[in-house]
Amino acid sequence: MSARAVETGSEEETIALGREIGRSLGRRAVVLLTGELGAGKTTLAKGIIQGLGAASADDVTSPTFTLIHEFGGDTKVYHIDLYRIERLSEALSLGLEELLDRDAVVLVEWGERFPALWPASRVEVRLAARDDETRIVTVTGA
Ligand SMILES: Nc1ncnc2c1ncn2[C@@H]1O[C@H](COP(=O)(O)OP(=O)(O)O)[C@@H](O)[C@H]1O
Ligand SMILES: [Mg+2]
Repeated sequence: MSARAVETGSEEETIALGREIGRSLGRRAVVLLTGELGAGKTTLAKGIIQGLGAASADDVTSPTFTLIHEFGGDTKVYHIDLYRIERLSEALSLGLEELLDRDAVVLVEWGERFPALWPASRVEVRLAARDDETRIVTVTGA
């Protein structure tokens, strides 16, 4: 599977890259967003959700405490943050399996902790901070 790596120099550039990724997705996709705290997972999600036409970037906030945010009309998007979830049983109790059965784009932060949950056919985006303003963004499977 081919991976492409892009360097972004600002939050705005990461949002723009997210828009591009969002426009390339179908109505049904699973996207795992991985990287340390502050790497830019939520920032990229803002762009992806905007690129899908499901909400404006400003309306996308971190689901760290709320766990799941739902967006969209024609294309449904679920933005999930599993940072606070420690056990697979807790993740399952959120109803993730049922969400994954829907015609929807599912964006997941910290999903790599629960590899058994995700379909083999998925997009993975890895974000790594190079310095305060620079991020290396590697996209696989898009
Ligand atoms: N190139 C960049 N891309 C994304 N975020 C950046 C970039 N440069 C600086 N930042 C900052 O890094 C932080 C990323 O936060 P966030 O997207 O919430 O990360 P995560 O969801 O991975 O914890 C924000 O404060 C953002 O302004
Ligand atoms: Mg986040």
